[in-house]
Amino acid sequence: MEKALRTAKIESYIISLVEKFPILSYYTTSRGWSFLISWGHRLAGLTLIGYMFAHIYTLSLLFTPATFDADMKLLHNFVFSFLEWALVVPLLFHSLNGGRLILYELFHMREDEIVMRSMIIIGLVYILIVGFFFVEESQQISVALFWPITVAISLIAFFIVLNKIWRTGNSILWKLQRITGAFMIPMLLGHMLFMHMNYLTGHDSGTILLRMQNPFIRGMDLVFITLLLFHAGYGVFSIVADYIKPGPILRSLAVLVIIVMAISAFFGIRLIVAL
Ligand code: HEM
Repeated sequence: MEKALRTAKIESYIISLVEKFPILSYYTTSRGWSFLISWGHRLAGLTLIGYMFAHIYTLSLLFTPATFDADMKLLHNFVFSFLEWALVVPLLFHSLNGGRLILYELFHMREDEIVMRSMIIIGLVYILIVGFFFVEESQQISVALFWPITVAISLIAFFIVLNKIWRTGNSILWKLQRITGAFMIPMLLGHMLFMHMNYLTGHDSGTILLRMQNPFIRGMDLVFITLLLFHAGYGVFSIVADYIKPGPILRSLAVLVIIVMAISAFFGIRLIVAL
């Protein structure tokens, strides 16, 4: 009883904080929380796409390792480390909210309270762990242990969702959006943890090249970038399709999205196979 009261107090405190921002408060009262959450999901998805392009660019500097190392040295300061850590916020929000949507849509789970509270707790624990790694910069974990386990968990999520939705009446692209999303939850959250456990793991050209040249990691990266680019491309298309009626303009924009994702795939795949 006392515990429930304390939890309710924390929740109302968080809500009162959010409602201090006039624009947020306007939308929560006029359109409801779900409107705000779906906009948050959208903006977080677009932020991650921006980061994805920047990431492909920085990794391309690995073709000249000295340039990569010099750039990383330049970026190794409080502001950039903070921004790198802050990326956890849109990543976590989009992953956990995406996971919540998948649970609702496929398993008809409507335990809002439990799902939301679990998301907040998992999110806070994850943010704190990543923050600890950013400050500490010296943890060690074996690549041969971490990635096969993460890939196995991702594949389990992938096949559970695939098996559950394949026979539903939704379009194939819609289904693939959910299936790729489920696969990416462990992969992306794992990626962020792994890269920042130790500074050298994610910022030293020698360490990164050695890892990327491993055949298992290479295969994993190829599968990951393919699923990611599909998910991101279809995500952008579905946002555009919300505002533009079916017709020649929408078709042209769809072609544009496909071209941009194909160019990104070219550069991303070239990185993985040629480095
Ligand atoms: C980490 C695991 C991820 C999960 C579980 C996930 C899940 C989802 C789901 C379920 C949707 C459909 C939302 C809807 O139709 O209402 C979606 C949309 C979207 N996702 Fe993801 N996603 C993930 C990662 C990513 C990443 C890494 C990016 C970008 C690089 C991304 C970009 C987008 C975009 C742009 C949309 C469209 C937004 C919208 O329509 O609201 N997602 N995601």
